[in-house]
Amino acid sequence: MLPSSLLRTLLPVSFWAGSVYARSTFNIKAHGTGVQYAASGQAAGDIGVTTSNDLSYYVDITLGGQNFTVLLDTGSTDLWVYTAGKDVKFTNTTNLDASLHYGIGSVDGIIQFTELKLGDFTIPNQVFINATEVTDMQLDTYQGIMGMAFDNTDIYQKIQSAWGTDVANSLARAPITNIFAQDPTLPNNFDVQLGRTSELEDIADGVFVISDHGEGFESVTKAPQLPRVAPDHWSIVMDAMLVNGKSFAFNKSRISGAPSGKVVAALDTGYSFPPIPGAAVDAIYSTIPGALFDPYSSFWLVPCDASTNLTFVFAGQEFPVHPIDLTYPNTIELEVNGTLTNVTACINTYQASTLDPRSFTGFDLILGDAFLRNVYASFDYGDYYPGNHTNGLPFVQMLPTTDASKMWQEFHDERAATLAELPPVIDPAAIIQAEKALQESAADEDLHKTGMVAGAAASSDEDSSSGDSWGKKYGMIALGLLAANLLIGVVLLVVTVVMCVRGVKGKSVRYAPVRFKDNADDFERGALKYSD
Ligand SMILES: *[C@@H]1O[C@H](CO)[C@@H](O)[C@H](O)[C@H]1NC(C)=O
Ligand SMILES: *[C@@H]1O[C@H](CO)[C@@H](O)[C@H](O)[C@H]1NC(C)=O
Ligand SMILES: *[C@@H]1O[C@H](CO)[C@@H](O)[C@H](O)[C@H]1NC(C)=O
Ligand SMILES: *[C@@H]1O[C@H](CO)[C@@H](O)[C@H](O)[C@H]1NC(C)=O
Ligand SMILES: *[C@@H]1O[C@H](CO)[C@@H](O)[C@H](O)[C@H]1NC(C)=O
Ligand SMILES: *[C@@H]1O[C@H](CO)[C@@H](O)[C@H](O)[C@H]1NC(C)=O
Ligand SMILES: *[C@@H]1O[C@H](CO)[C@@H](O)[C@H](O)[C@H]1NC(C)=O
Ligand SMILES: *[C@@H]1O[C@H](CO)[C@@H](O)[C@H](O)[C@H]1NC(C)=O
Repeated sequence: MLPSSLLRTLLPVSFWAGSVYARSTFNIKAHGTGVQYAASGQAAGDIGVTTSNDLSYYVDITLGGQNFTVLLDTGSTDLWVYTAGKDVKFTNTTNLDASLHYGIGSVDGIIQFTELKLGDFTIPNQVFINATEVTDMQLDTYQGIMGMAFDNTDIYQKIQSAWGTDVANSLARAPITNIFAQDPTLPNNFDVQLGRTSELEDIADGVFVISDHGEGFESVTKAPQLPRVAPDHWSIVMDAMLVNGKSFAFNKSRISGAPSGKVVAALDTGYSFPPIPGAAVDAIYSTIPGALFDPYSSFWLVPCDASTNLTFVFAGQEFPVHPIDLTYPNTIELEVNGTLTNVTACINTYQASTLDPRSFTGFDLILGDAFLRNVYASFDYGDYYPGNHTNGLPFVQMLPTTDASKMWQEFHDERAATLAELPPVIDPAAIIQAEKALQESAADEDLHKTGMVAGAAASSDEDSSSGDSWGKKYGMIALGLLAANLLIGVVLLVVTVVMCVRGVKGKSVRYAPVRFKDNADDFERGALKYSD
C-alpha cells in the first residue's frame, strides 16, 4: 500500500517574493571509510539537501550519469525520476509500466534499470520508474522521489508478476535495501535529522547517514527501540500527545494489537504538514489565545506570535515540538474592504487528515516534518531482508533535539525576524470576515454552480488554474488562503470532487481518492474514471 501511502504533502515552494531556498547539508557517511564529512564541507560523498522554508527535504543523486534532485521520503518505497531532456544511461530496460498515486499527485512511467550513486554508495543496477507522466509535482524543484520504506510496493509487484519472486527479490529493491544487500556487513540503518531553516541562519545542518550514526548522536542506539507494528510504513506505537501537559484522548487505534489507550504513528519525511485526526488538531490549536478555526478554508488561523506546548511521547520518552513548527506563515492576497492586499496569516501545520482511512491503512496518524524536525531518528531494518518480510523486525530509535527551556525564546526571536520580511500580519477574524464577504458575493452570482463542481473540475484544467473563474466557480472552497495556496487547494478540490461524484452516482460506487493496492486501476486521476 505504500505507493499510495506515498504519504506526502506537496506544497507551493514559494509563496512570497524574497523567499529563499535555504541550503541544508546532509551527510552520507559510508561505513568503514572512516570519513566523516564536515557539515558544510564539500567533500566527495557529501550530499547537498535543499529545503525551501522547511517544507520538503531533497537529496541529490546521480542516475545513469546525470544529476537529479529527489525528495527524501520515509513514507514510500519506489524510486521514480523524470529524466526527460537528460541523457540517462540505462543498464537494462523493460516494458513494464508502473503507476504511483500519492496522497497528492501521481506518476506513471516504465520500469527501467540504471546505475545510481548516492553519496559514496554506488548501486550498479538500480530499478526505478522512468516517469513519463507526472501530475501535481514541482518538477522544477525536484525530479523524483526516493522512498525509504519497505520493498513490497509497485515496482516489486510488477516485477514479481512478470518474472517471479526470485527475480523480484534480487532486482526490485529500493536503493536503501540494495545498499544493505550488496554489503551484508553494513548495519541495516539510516538516520535522519531534518534541519530547520530560519531567517536568522539560512544554512541548516541536517543529517542523513546510512549504516552509521551522526556525530554527537551515537547514543541513539541506547534509546528505546520502537518496533514497526504495521507492514509497509515506519509505523510505531505512540503513548500520548500532550497539549500543555494534558494528554489528548484519541479514539481506539485501528491497528489491531495496538496497546490499549495508545495509537500508531507513521513517521514520514515526505509529509510536510502532519495529517492527524481532526479532533486532535482542534485540541492543539484551540489552546492558543486568538486562534480561530476558519470554516471556509478548514485551517486554523493563529496569531503569528502565539503557539502552544505540544509534546509527543514514545516508550515513555518525551519529544517536545518547537513552537515554531506549529504554525506556518503564509502570504495571501485577500480582498479587504474592496482592495486586493497582500497580508500574512499563520496557519496550522498539524492538519486534519483527509486521507481515506480505507485507502491508507497501517497507522492512526502521520508525523511528518513538523514533528521530525524535533528528533534525531534512526530507522533500523533489523534483520529485514528483501523478500523476507516475515522475519524482519524493523524498529526506530529517536532522540529529542528540541530544548524546551530555550524554544520559546527562539520562537519569539525567529518568528519576529520572519514576519519582518513579510507583508503585514492580519488578524484571523479579519480573514474570516473577508472570506465571508467573498463567499456571499460569489454565492449571489453563482449559487447553483457549487453543486456542479465535480463536472467542471474534471473537464477543465484551465478552470482550476485561472484565478478568476476559480474564485467564481469554486466559491465554496477556494476562498482566501487557497488562492495563494493552490496546491493545498488541489487537495481539497479532489476530495470535494470525489464526494460529489459519489453523491451523484449513489452509494454503490466504489471510489478512491488515491490508489490503493487492490483497486489501483479503478481510479484515474483527472479523468475521474471509475469502475465497479
Ligand atoms: C553532477 O554533480 C557533480 C557534483 O556537483 C558534478 O561534479 C558533476 O559534474 C555533475 N554531473 C553532471 C552530468 O552534471
Ligand atoms: C535485462 O533484463 C532481462 C529481462 O528483461 C534479463 O533477462 C537480463 O538478464 C537483464 N540483463 C542484465 C544485464 O541485467
Ligand atoms: C525515459 O523517460 C523519458 C521522459 O519521459 C523519455 O524521453 C525516454 O525515452 C525514456 N527512456 C526509456 C528508456 O524509457
Ligand atoms: C472518534 O471518532 C468519531 C467517529 O468517527 C469522530 O467523530 C471523533 O471526532 C473521533 N474522536 C477523536 C478524539 O478522534
Ligand atoms: C509552555 O510551558 C511552559 C513551561 O511549563 C509554561 O511556562 C508556558 O506558559 C507554556 N506556554 C504556553 C503558551 O502554554
Ligand atoms: C474594513 O472596513 C470596515 C468598515 O469600514 C472597518 O471597520 C475595518 O477596519 C476595515 N478593515 C480593514 C482591514 O481595513
Ligand atoms: C502580492 O505579492 C505578490 C508577490 O510579491 C505580487 O506579485 C502581487 O502583485 C502582490 N499583490 C498585491 C495585491 O499587492
Ligand atoms: C529470513 O530471515 C531470517 C532471519 O534473519 C532467516 O533465518 C531466514 O533464513 C530468512 N529467510 C529467507 C527465505 O531468506
